[in-house]
Amino acid sequence: MEKAKTYEQLLPQIESLIKDVDNHVGALANVSALLHSSFLHYFWCGFYIVKGDALELGPFQGEVACYTIKKGRGVCGKAWEDKQTVVVPNVLQFPGHIACSSKSRSEIVVPVFRGDNVIAVIDVDSKGYSAFDDIDKEWLEKIEKLIRPLFDTNDASLKEK
Ligand code: SME
Repeated sequence: MEKAKTYEQLLPQIESLIKDVDNHVGALANVSALLHSSFLHYFWCGFYIVKGDALELGPFQGEVACYTIKKGRGVCGKAWEDKQTVVVPNVLQFPGHIACSSKSRSEIVVPVFRGDNVIAVIDVDSKGYSAFDDIDKEWLEKIEKLIRPLFDTNDASLKEK
């Protein structure tokens, strides 16, 4: 199926998956599971959450990942610092890329906003080169708007410091 169509079908599924759910960690884990199982080339997908001057590992699907990423470091830290989505066709050529897994070849990171502030990022890795383009950017940014409220929580593990 065309990927825009897959994303289009995912949106209402995400809406119903997170609606009226107080368990925000669980909801984010389910969103990452849904994304991961919907796109076979999604090798890793999940969330890093802003805590002070670093991003901390949040709910995800995929292989073991690094816990902490400093602002400006790696693709995630760059998306946070620049407050915009970063698409990397070849991570091996991205200066400062943080290789949690040597299998990752391309990556997209979408910042999650509260007002003007970045409070988290959505990170997706693929085993294939150039796996992400403007279509992924457009739809993952729509997903970002849907999941934003999940970071407004009293759960300390999701709260921005
Ligand atoms: N590659 C990321 C680090 C996180 S992992 O991909 C899960 C980066 O460069 O920020």
